[in-house]
Amino acid sequence: MSEFRFICDVGSVPPRESRLFIVDEVPVAVFNLGGEFFALANECPHAGASLAHGNIDGDCVSCRIHHWRFSIRDGTYIDEEKPRYNARSFELRVVGGEVQVNLDA
Ligand code: FES
Repeated sequence: MSEFRFICDVGSVPPRESRLFIVDEVPVAVFNLGGEFFALANECPHAGASLAHGNIDGDCVSCRIHHWRFSIRDGTYIDEEKPRYNARSFELRVVGGEVQVNLDA
C-alpha cells in the first residue's frame, strides 16, 4: 500500500534550490521550482553522486561529477534517450505546508 510521509516543511527548500532529506533511510533530493516541489532519489544513476547537490538549470539538474542532466520533474535523463539512466522520481504532494513523499511510487 502506498503511503505519503512527511519529508520537510515547504520553507525548508528555498525557490530554485534543492535539499537532501532522509526518509526511512532513503536519501531523497527535494527541489523547489518556484513553488512547485519535486523529489528524486538522491543517487545519480551514473555513479551515485548526490543530485541534491547538483546544479539547477531551469527544470533540470546536472550532476556535479560528470554533468549528466536529469529532468527535475520526472527524473528523465536528458542528454540521451536511455531510460535505464533515468533518475528515480517519487510522487510528492504538499499538504498544509508539509512536503510529503511517497517512496513506493
Ligand atoms: S556520477 Fe553523476 S554524471 Fe557521473
